[in-house]
Amino acid sequence: MDVREALYTTRMMRRMHPDAIPLEVQARILDAAIRAPNGGNTQRWHFLTVDNPDTNAELAPIYRRCRQKEYEDMAAGTFAVPLENPEGHAATMRQTTKSADFLVKHFTEIPLLLFVFAIDDHGGANIYPAIWSTLLAARVEGVAA
Ligand SMILES: Cc1cc2nc3c(=O)[nH]c(=O)nc-3n(C[C@H](O)[C@H](O)[C@H](O)COP(=O)(O)O)c2cc1C
Repeated sequence: MDVREALYTTRMMRRMHPDAIPLEVQARILDAAIRAPNGGNTQRWHFLTVDNPDTNAELAPIYRRCRQKEYEDMAAGTFAVPLENPEGHAATMRQTTKSADFLVKHFTEIPLLLFVFAIDDHGGANIYPAIWSTLLAARVEGVAA
């Protein structure tokens, strides 16, 4: 797959196959991530992968609680509502909730979790390119993310 196809077809996914991601594929994805541009090439990041179902099972209730908190924030109007199209915003929120609920339900089936830790990265300027490279590299490998 060339770069343009990856750029044009990479999407966020919450419904994914449970098939294991081979270690060499994980390594290629991470190798792309750490080539991303970052301030002063200081690489102030850590990546942590989890491909162990037992660990997923421990993390699942934490994820469920986090989603619950997000829904409470949404209900309390903490997120900005675009005034020009409140109906469209409500529809987006319904769709987001539906797909997030699916992920809560199927959390233990996610074959690979990738945690990205940014060190002293105010605003995310240094870490977001690495995350985007991760998503593109995953797309090239046929891995939804
Ligand atoms: C930059 C960005 C920010 C996002 N922020 C949120 C968010 O705050 N809450 C949320 O539940 N999903 C968030 N998402 C996830 C997407 O809304 C969602 O995964 C994507 O639209 C796929 O939805 P689907 O599973 O319904 O196809 C975000 C995605 C991106 C790319």
